[in-house]
Amino acid sequence: MKKRVFSGVQPSGSLTIGNYLGAIRNFARLQYEADCYFCVVNLHALTVPQDPEELKKNTLDVARLFVACGIDPNVSAIFVQSQVPAHAELSWLLECQGYIGELKRMTQFKDKAKKRENVSVGLFTYPVLMAADILLYNTDLVPVGEDQKQHLELARDLALRVNNRFREEVFKVPEPYIPPKNSGGRIMSLQNPAEKMSKSAENPKSYIALLDPPEVIQKKIMSAVTDSEAVIRYDEEAKPAVSNLMVIYSLFSGKTMEEITRLYAGKGYGQFKKDLAELTVETLKPIQQKVAELSAPGAIEEILKKGAEKAEETAAEKLRLCQDKLGVLRF
Ligand code: AMP
Ligand code: TRP
Repeated sequence: MKKRVFSGVQPSGSLTIGNYLGAIRNFARLQYEADCYFCVVNLHALTVPQDPEELKKNTLDVARLFVACGIDPNVSAIFVQSQVPAHAELSWLLECQGYIGELKRMTQFKDKAKKRENVSVGLFTYPVLMAADILLYNTDLVPVGEDQKQHLELARDLALRVNNRFREEVFKVPEPYIPPKNSGGRIMSLQNPAEKMSKSAENPKSYIALLDPPEVIQKKIMSAVTDSEAVIRYDEEAKPAVSNLMVIYSLFSGKTMEEITRLYAGKGYGQFKKDLAELTVETLKPIQQKVAELSAPGAIEEILKKGAEKAEETAAEKLRLCQDKLGVLRF
């Protein structure tokens, strides 16, 4: 039996190379060995204010990027969360199994809540919706970046809690699939190596969007912060900014850290950044071309309809099982 893989990406802005290296790149790799479901989680994006038209556009853009990054819609199911109502329904059932205390411990909630005046209830229960996404599909593996580790732990806890209560495997307990930090699990901001690269950052210089044009990529990389040592070597503690650039270089080129250090011995940061910019532009070029091709009217909608049909079948079965267990009447 092939393993089942599920992952989701929020359509809350333009995706970055952090999303690509931490998660999406692995989606494409896993699809030939596992049975994959990749979801644009638009309901998650609603936890903070969104412009409605922008959100609809971003939802389709993320789906186009999935395909452009190598996810084959004939192999994997690509769909939009809101098109499969079982996600929201199971989320409610799971909210009634989760504890306020465990949600209060979520560090991402604490961080996000700190930054705003009005905190929606949805932002608080967000990890339960994520658990529903995962548990609906009997998921074995969840490829995500490191920032999602705690959320995944909650999904596991909820699954185990329900299974223990009914003394049977109602839910498969999912495993995380997270790359180590030096291979993309946590790509840091180009302006502040203590913060992760984020598409919702205020300063666009801190991230590279997958759809940034070449000149923009060049400018952003050339103005990335470094340090005063002018030596290219990997040391997360002492040289976090340069190490982060090296991770990106290494993943885009296939070169090891040692090879990169040797290549730039005595050369300084200018040449290194120039080459990194070129490498990034070249890596993103085919992805950007594919996105443009998928912009023909109706092209991506067709793919998403097919994906939602496939997802709906699997999800409905699990939702029914869970309803029966909890005593939710249906006839
Ligand atoms: P999000 O944009 O929050 O929906 O994230 C989509 C996926 O990208 C998740 O699996 C995240 O863990 C991953 N991700 C987001 N930002 C980064 C980053 N800076 N480094 C590595 N992975 C990331
Ligand atoms: N919370 C995830 C993020 O911000 C997105 C997400 C929602 C997700 N549901 C998921 C990831 C299910 C993996 C599996 O990145």
